Amino acid sequence: MNNEDKNLLQNNMTELGSLMQGMRAAYARGENAMEYARQTTHSLGNTPEATLIAYDLQAGTYIAGARANPEANARWCSQLAALLNPFVSRQSSILEVGCGEATTLAGVVSYLSHKPKHALGFDISWSRCAHGIKWLEEKSVAAELFVGDLFEIPLADASVDVVYTSHSLEPNGGREEAAIKELLRVARYAVVLIEPLYELASADAQARMQSHGYVRGLKETAEKLGTSVSKYRLLEYCGNPLNPSGVVLIEKSITKSLGDIDLQWRCPLTHSRLLANSAAYYSPETGVVYPVLAGIPLLRSNHAIVASAFSGTHSNI
Ligand SMILES: C[S@@+](CC[C@H](N)C(=O)[O-])C[C@H]1O[C@@H](n2cnc3c(N)ncnc32)[C@H](O)[C@@H]1O
Repeated sequence: MNNEDKNLLQNNMTELGSLMQGMRAAYARGENAMEYARQTTHSLGNTPEATLIAYDLQAGTYIAGARANPEANARWCSQLAALLNPFVSRQSSILEVGCGEATTLAGVVSYLSHKPKHALGFDISWSRCAHGIKWLEEKSVAAELFVGDLFEIPLADASVDVVYTSHSLEPNGGREEAAIKELLRVARYAVVLIEPLYELASADAQARMQSHGYVRGLKETAEKLGTSVSKYRLLEYCGNPLNPSGVVLIEKSITKSLGDIDLQWRCPLTHSRLLANSAAYYSPETGVVYPVLAGIPLLRSNHAIVASAFSGTHSNI
């Protein structure tokens, strides 16, 4: 590395450090940490780092909300379960993308007419997954959580029957096409987007969504990708009328029968297969290893460790 590269790296690290400290301080003052990041970085949209830091800081607040208002949580989750029901059998797998603290996932699984064989959820924030695991335990719901990024999901193509979101594409305005493409890659039967629908929102809600850097044009983007959108409407119940939730239901043409492919983990960097044990997810083909932190797999590409000598155990070293 030459001196210029070293200086650049050092500047980036210093900038990231001050962004993190600034966002933490803004959050502690009761301000919107993402808004602070947009202003500090002079950006109209939300960077992945700002999204991660802002949501990680909020870890625990959704569970507090669900405890304070269980009726609202029940209404939200039963509404989503009704939308997923036609695609879910006892042999199915379902995945919530950006599951936060699993307050939606736990309720959705409970309200589904048939409990799926596999229920999975991932979030970019470890802290939110950690809270989510506790919530799932408390609710006696069996579901597997991991840290991941919705733009590089660590699962094989068409390996999950139903992939759904609940306001997780929301902060990723400007990256709609890449997000939907990745969800379609992993889903076998259906992608169900439960997101704020800019085009069906009031002028006030649209102005708010623009200022927050939220997604837009989800139906149009899905159709541009050649998919068939079979449901597109606002939901009866939504928590905040200024952030009106709607559904964009994308049905894929079915090529395999229900339940004939098991879940398969993939390296988010290379798409090579990953084997899993309690310590790590590792690729025998490439020697790349992803660690497990306090029981939660870390499966983003920037968690990758090149460790060719690791073969599921280190007892042979
Ligand atoms: C509004 S919250 C919704 C959480 C959850 N789906 C629910 O219904 O309670 C949005 C969530 O999406 C997650 N998220 C945003 N961008 C993400 C990304 N690129 N990959 C994974 N998760 C992401 C955030 O960390 C946050 O937990």
